[in-house]
Amino acid sequence: MTAKSMIQKGKGILAMDESNGTCNKRFDVLGIPTTEASRQAYRELILTTPGLSDYVSGPILYDETIRQTSKAGVPFLKVIADAGMIPGIKVDTGAKDMAGHPNEKVTEGLDGLRDRIAEYYQMGARFAKWRAVITIGEGIPSRACIEANAHGLARYAALCQEGGLVPIVEPEVLIDGDHTLERCYQVTDETLDAVFSQLYTQGVAYNQMILKPSMVIPGKACAQQATVEQVAAATVRCLLKNVPATVAGIAFLSGGQTKEQSSAHLNAMNKLFGDQLPWPVTFSYARAIQQPALDYWSGKDENVKEAQKHLLERAKFNSLASKGEYSSDLEKQLTAV
Ligand code: 13P
Repeated sequence: MTAKSMIQKGKGILAMDESNGTCNKRFDVLGIPTTEASRQAYRELILTTPGLSDYVSGPILYDETIRQTSKAGVPFLKVIADAGMIPGIKVDTGAKDMAGHPNEKVTEGLDGLRDRIAEYYQMGARFAKWRAVITIGEGIPSRACIEANAHGLARYAALCQEGGLVPIVEPEVLIDGDHTLERCYQVTDETLDAVFSQLYTQGVAYNQMILKPSMVIPGKACAQQATVEQVAAATVRCLLKNVPATVAGIAFLSGGQTKEQSSAHLNAMNKLFGDQLPWPVTFSYARAIQQPALDYWSGKDENVKEAQKHLLERAKFNSLASKGEYSSDLEKQLTAV
């Protein structure tokens, strides 16, 4: 499989690889039991959404999910293949507190990774994800945090390519905090520069990888928020400066933006700057696609069909955004898919 086939025109990637801990946290808010059966039911809801493959080339799964079946006993991997989608797998083992660097994280998971990749490949996975987290705050990020995370991403990507999986390289600069758009630009610039320097050093083939960046956006608590055009322009400028033209594709995370912002920003990048972009620019959202469906479902069987409509609607709107054809007017239709 090639990285290009994961990013066909009008399609993106659906992140549904929340660890059990993260998935349970989201269930807890809605009073959904935090059991394996609930997680299985929810993942079945997502993967059996009729028409999902019109907008999504593949889902990113968590280790528990890739081994699960539907309630009727059909392996999720078969459900995905039958829908014409490509399965991916999260392979990092989480962002952990970084020694000697308060409030900073370093992502772990390199130990035994070659063997885990071989197992996932054998099961049918064809791409992988590793997420690094960079926090903006007083005196951070440190150079140590950026370099350690960049190194981890590059070692992971090299192992994936050796084992036949397309690596999604995800350096997330968090939206939490009161930092300005300019500060986010500066940190994203330094982070992407370090990541591509390490990818180069480790011999990672750019044309067989996908970058999953965060957008250049003011912190959630920043008094000076930005327009859609400002976010799109700053993000495109930062990407053009740092990302080699041969990278197979860019698929953004949503990172805590609202669902409407996530669609509008992606749309503006493609609509206003599409002719300058050497790579396809699409989505790899989790919350910005899943949240309305999860809220509607709330753990109840009778809500599955309607919840699937909510999921499909976000997938469709983001597909349109990946072509610069989304408009905020569409939001008024609400589930008129
Ligand atoms: P969000 O779109 O919710 O930020 O999640 C994307 C993701 O895969 C985080 O690792």
